[in-house]
Amino acid sequence: MVDAGDPIPPDTPLPAVDVSRVASADTGSPLPEGWEHGAFMQVFVRSYRDSDGDGIGDLRGLTERLDYLHDLGVRGLWLMPVGPSQDGDHGYAVTDYRAIEPDYGSLADFDALLREAHARGIGVIVDYVINHSAAEHPLFVNARAAADNPWRGWYLWQPSNPGGWNIYGGDPWRRNAAPGGGWYFAAFWDQMPDFDLRQPAVVDWHHDNLRFWLNRGVDGFRFDAVGHLVENGPQAWTDQPETLPLLRGARLTIDDYERRHLVCEGPNRPFDYTAACGSAFAFGLHTRILQAARGDPAGVFAVAEHFRGAPQGMATMLANHDSFAGDRVFNQLAGDLGRYRVAAATYLLGPGTPFIYYGEEIGMARGPIGGDPGLRTPMSWSADPRTGGFTSGTPYRVLSGNVTTFNVASQQADPESLLAFYKAMLALRNGIPALSAGRVEQVRSDNLVLAVVRRAGASRTLVVINYDTAVAGVEIDGLPARAPLLSRHPDGGADLTASGDGRVRVDLPAQSVRVFTVQ
Ligand code: NOJ
Repeated sequence: MVDAGDPIPPDTPLPAVDVSRVASADTGSPLPEGWEHGAFMQVFVRSYRDSDGDGIGDLRGLTERLDYLHDLGVRGLWLMPVGPSQDGDHGYAVTDYRAIEPDYGSLADFDALLREAHARGIGVIVDYVINHSAAEHPLFVNARAAADNPWRGWYLWQPSNPGGWNIYGGDPWRRNAAPGGGWYFAAFWDQMPDFDLRQPAVVDWHHDNLRFWLNRGVDGFRFDAVGHLVENGPQAWTDQPETLPLLRGARLTIDDYERRHLVCEGPNRPFDYTAACGSAFAFGLHTRILQAARGDPAGVFAVAEHFRGAPQGMATMLANHDSFAGDRVFNQLAGDLGRYRVAAATYLLGPGTPFIYYGEEIGMARGPIGGDPGLRTPMSWSADPRTGGFTSGTPYRVLSGNVTTFNVASQQADPESLLAFYKAMLALRNGIPALSAGRVEQVRSDNLVLAVVRRAGASRTLVVINYDTAVAGVEIDGLPARAPLLSRHPDGGADLTASGDGRVRVDLPAQSVRVFTVQ
């Protein structure tokens, strides 16, 4: 670890820096048009599946599980950082932007994963950390070594601490006691120095890195922490106006390639980032969905408002790998599977692109450790209390708190399981074009019932969700006169017909979902 106070012995050779240019070389996309409207699985490779018994998840392990993901109905994977990292954990302190984390395997393993995913119609997007590198990245090791080092200007420096800054409760200016001296800016951690993205050379290099992965065939990126790209002062360090052109520039580079997807993480301004990136996570919606699932009408109302006003193409979720976005869904809902199902249906059948956090589909609980690591435990493949079926060795991290009762093996055998429910929701999404890509035509909420009508071309679909623990219903109007509504879910549900003035009333059992196609 590079201590900001570490002097560099005078005879230490500085590491070589690779900023070679990468030309665009698109070989096309093997995926069908519109693939990005299908549901994604967010995968933390370190915790997904270990293929070689060292207790750490790897790319070959993930490749072994592609049939499971395909069978579930997933159409895309978001891989959290797969490059070598300094943190040796979630991977956001990147030490090499054009290589694979040795714990995860090799570039050849990555290419094999891409090939096998594509063969199953699954796209793969990778996390890209544009805001900062690791302190151990050769660029920063050079930059901190001398005030006149040629790479110095790739990061943000001040001769002394400017004072007055506070980001997430800490001072982002860090003292460099290496011979280069000065203070560098690092918003998240002193081991994650921020790049100076006002430097064209830095931006060009990021675009070269993007092309490196695009040329290998990746289907896009999740851009990390885009709200932090540019700072204008101690009161102006987030979501600055210069950010949007930077993102639009990256999007243009990505658009040189066929059918690539970009989803940005910018919790404060998701609509703006959707406009710049093509897609961004709908932070805020996830808490409202869970509020609705708990039976609070204010949550249902807020979800309806979001679906009415959100731009097309946002990424939706219930939770992810960061505790600022909430605990594991199982813990947030105290294991109530009735609530869990209606929460899941809301985003899996809703507008936007759903991102399922690995293990959510089986109700995986957090592990018995604090903070973010508790959200990032090994996947529960089996009930084995020692390994959870994750590894033949010793898992690198404690298992999920409910591995013996909530795991893939037991749920695959149970048609009433949460896994079976997720599979049914994704089959609907994949089978009805208006459910995956339809524009919102109408949203109704009535106390604890939500109804959404979406349309793609001539085909319309109606989704109705009852969050109440009692029977409830809603009236919808604006449908074509006497339109038949064919029931698509649940199995055996009765068809309905709109009245002559285009109205229909839908009543549903407690905590249930109905889906119709409107003829
Ligand atoms: C947001 C990521 O989701 C989080 O996990 C990471 O630590 C920070 N960005 C910094 O990269």
